[in-house]
Amino acid sequence: MATNRTFTMLKPDAIEGGNAGKILDLIISKGFKIKAMKFTHLSEAQAKEFYIEHAERPFYGELVEYMTSGPIIAAILEKDNAVADFRALIGATDPAEAADGTIRKLYAESKGRNAVHGSDADASAEREGAFHFAPNEIF
Ligand code: RTP
Ligand code: MG
Repeated sequence: MATNRTFTMLKPDAIEGGNAGKILDLIISKGFKIKAMKFTHLSEAQAKEFYIEHAERPFYGELVEYMTSGPIIAAILEKDNAVADFRALIGATDPAEAADGTIRKLYAESKGRNAVHGSDADASAEREGAFHFAPNEIF
């Protein structure tokens, strides 16, 4: 059964570039409600585990280095059809291919440094939310 929650991270380039507030405002304006949120800095072990599905990909080392290069904002978001609607809002992985008005088109620097993460399925949203938040941190 589809759930109505997804998980996001505002990645180090979004924080470093001063875009966190604008990105959160856009997310909220599109009808997503914040159910959990934290400002944190991933350890190497955390970044490796979070992106373990990409462990065999050539960009894995670069991805872990990037995701640990500065603080991130992690959040659980709620909306009808949350996973698919949020993927539509963030746009394609490579900002050069992202549609106008998407977060990556507006704020991403490159395919590697692309401003924001969005869960790709309900099961991922569940796993990723639980990775970052204890039950008493989700409202
Ligand atoms: P995300 O998981 O972060 O929401 O991104 P995504 O689904 O759009 O893309 P995915 O294939 O899951 O890749 C995860 C992240 O790895 C980095 N990446 N770099 N240099 C490259 O070719 C490359 N490909 C992927 C990006 O940061 C991407 O978001
Ligand atoms: Mg992904």
